[in-house]
Amino acid sequence: MTGVPCGPPCPLPRSLTERPAWPTTAAWIAALIGLLSWPAIGAAGPPPEMDERMRACTACHGSEGIRIDEGYVPRIEGKPAGYLFNQLVHFREHRRTNATMNHLVEWMSDDYMAAIANWFADREPPYPDPAEPPRREALRERGEQLVRAGDADRDIPACQACHGERLAGVRPDTPGLIGLPEHYIAGQLGAWQVGRRQAAEPDCMATIVERLSERDVEAVAAWLASRPLPDNTRPAAGPATDLPMQCGSVERPSS
Ligand code: HEC
Ligand code: HEC
Repeated sequence: MTGVPCGPPCPLPRSLTERPAWPTTAAWIAALIGLLSWPAIGAAGPPPEMDERMRACTACHGSEGIRIDEGYVPRIEGKPAGYLFNQLVHFREHRRTNATMNHLVEWMSDDYMAAIANWFADREPPYPDPAEPPRREALRERGEQLVRAGDADRDIPACQACHGERLAGVRPDTPGLIGLPEHYIAGQLGAWQVGRRQAAEPDCMATIVERLSERDVEAVAAWLASRPLPDNTRPAAGPATDLPMQCGSVERPSS
């Protein structure tokens, strides 16, 4: 296989981890696209060479995630398959903005995206250690309050009502909030606030972030990033019932 510089744990080329020298990065991305574009696969499941092909993704999306010029790359292994599929579609349709990701998935078929989502959802490498809790007590308390109980006065539901009590997510469409660094969480909430990230309508996260102050975003991001990992880090079985708010991206149980 050509074009993939290496798989983890081997480090990425400097051009990707530091301010990129554009021709090099562009060439690398072009190689990735060559690697990733192949005919849509059928219902028979992922092709056997999937492990090798997905190294193009785990070079950035390894179990610890890495920082690149465009920001933080989250780990995606073990996240619910429906959630991952939805994100790939959002990037393809530009409902979520990130130059690399928008480019990578531009020509991908739904079938291929589903195969990728399943491949990553089935994996569960160890998580990195949680961060230190926020030093300021008021920030810690506010973070915990929002995640565990919400804020009825401002009509903010508890984050755990949808993301699961263990905060490990709920299959198939709701991601966990554990094992994510503070700046990634704050970055995603900020992206919703300014419209750089959207989910299917009604977009519950967009409504929720409108009600969060800057300090609230800081508090939940810092508190979540410091959570010790639960014994069971797998997403809870779903689909979710009794959500406090409707979310277009969450599949509902058929009644
Ligand atoms: C050059 C680094 C890089 C490569 C290679 C890369 N990604 Fe990404 N990916 C990112 C970044 C950065 C983000 C976060 C974007 C944002 O902030 O919204 C992201 C986000 C994602 C997300 C959303 C994660 C979440 O938790 O919401 C998915 C899914 C994803 N990428 C899948 C893939 C797949 C599949 C591949 C291989 C085809 C791939 N990525 C290759 C950098 C990369
Ligand atoms: C009503 C249900 C609901 C509530 C309440 C809720 N969320 Fe979410 N959240 C979702 C759904 C659904 C998604 C996935 C959206 C998508 O498909 O892009 C999501 C996605 C996220 C993501 C993106 C994760 C990633 O890996 O990129 C973050 C961060 C997040 N929520 C934080 C929060 C916080 C913090 C709170 C509490 C203040 C909260 N959520 C409350 C339903 C909810």
